[in-house]
Amino acid sequence: MKFFVDSADIDAIAELNDTGMVDGVTTNPSLILKSGRDILEVTKEICAMVDGPVSAEVVALEADAMIEEGRKLAEIAPNIAVKVPLTWAGLKTCKVLSDEGKMVNVTLCFSVNQALLAAKAGATFISPFIGRLDDINLDGMELIADIRTVYDNYGFGTEILAASIRSANHVAESARIGADVITAPPEVLKKLASHPLTDKGLEAFMADWAKTGQSIL
Ligand code: E4P
Repeated sequence: MKFFVDSADIDAIAELNDTGMVDGVTTNPSLILKSGRDILEVTKEICAMVDGPVSAEVVALEADAMIEEGRKLAEIAPNIAVKVPLTWAGLKTCKVLSDEGKMVNVTLCFSVNQALLAAKAGATFISPFIGRLDDINLDGMELIADIRTVYDNYGFGTEILAASIRSANHVAESARIGADVITAPPEVLKKLASHPLTDKGLEAFMADWAKTGQSIL
């Protein structure tokens, strides 16, 4: 399973990238706002730092303008995945840009039918939003499982990128179901290493080690 960082915070991405855990990055207009940075500049910096796909989102709502924006974003670096919303304009943009050989991430997916359309439009990634479904008392994980089944039924190569991940459990569940990628905020990714028994065990080992009076270096 691939891990993408859902952030436009260059320092937070760099910190995780140093661990070798970062297979890509996803951004969106809200994350660009949060970063306080210019979209073209910060995206270029992220692309230079991370080897894998870096999603940069279009903001036009009509297909022609979306295609133009997508082409401009794709010029930033070869590892750009143009992110388009799951609307008919977004699907048309997905088809045009994927036919041009560009990676496309179709975002804001909330149903299996939407995921089917994205796959048929040639999407590289489909981004079902788990947390936002959970927020309205629907089952985000069930959507990931349904898309997995449907894509496998027909052999679609579009990668399932589980998004809107809010907890470590979302990551583990996505892995169990067979999502190809998860994208999560840096704070959620950092929590994946945490376990109270690890902390307790380490504390006991350190206490005993101190009693030995030894040093390794
Ligand atoms: C995915 O690409 C989105 O940027 C992101 O996962 C949305 O997450 P949120 O619902 O927590 O804003």
